[in-house]
Amino acid sequence: MIIAVDGPVAAGKGTLARRLAAALDFAYLDTGSIYRAVAARVLAAGGDPQNHDEAVEAARSLGPADLERSDLRSEAVGQAASKVAANQAVREALLAFQHRFAAQPPEGKGGAVLDGRDIGTVVCPDADMKFFLTASMEARARRRHKELLERGEKSIYARVLQDLRERDARDSGRATAPLKAAADALRLDTSEMDADQAFAAAMAEIERRLKLPGL
Ligand code: DC
Repeated sequence: MIIAVDGPVAAGKGTLARRLAAALDFAYLDTGSIYRAVAARVLAAGGDPQNHDEAVEAARSLGPADLERSDLRSEAVGQAASKVAANQAVREALLAFQHRFAAQPPEGKGGAVLDGRDIGTVVCPDADMKFFLTASMEARARRRHKELLERGEKSIYARVLQDLRERDARDSGRATAPLKAAADALRLDTSEMDADQAFAAAMAEIERRLKLPGL
């Protein structure tokens, strides 16, 4: 069984996807971290994330250690990830890994939860269940700002808001696999929800649609 969780930055995808995977004993893949790892490789080599060849080379030579880098969650890497993600050849290079993960989840798990931008539309268009998370720009900026401060990073709210606007515009406006809800995705607006409420709403929908009582 495959569950897709898509949505913009800081809509709560990661938290929800991780909790769904734990509750269902499924494997979890944060596909954003793959794009972040490509971007981090380019930046570490002093390259330009918008340079086509440098980004493709980083994507093709990506290894497991790249996914463990400590700088993956920084804002600089997030912005650069959004740039390498607009490169079609980069996306193609990363597709096979995502397909394999969904079709044959690691550790013999019975299913997989993938979160990202194009899981329900491009990576797993046949997913059994698709969620598209949204939240107001202000709610997302507040969350991201709090998260950065809690991690001990410097953060200025107005700057975070501006970064989100830029990333949304780039992720939604790109020609290849743009951020958009699949026609059959269930939309969840998490602006007024905490993580527990979003999880309860998603689980109720999974039980209802997939007729899996008592999960
Ligand atoms: O979810 P995130 O912030 O970690 O993602 C970082 C960037 O990677 C995001 O700005 C867009 C890109 N991305 C993508 O294009 N497709 C995905 N499936 C996941 C992430």
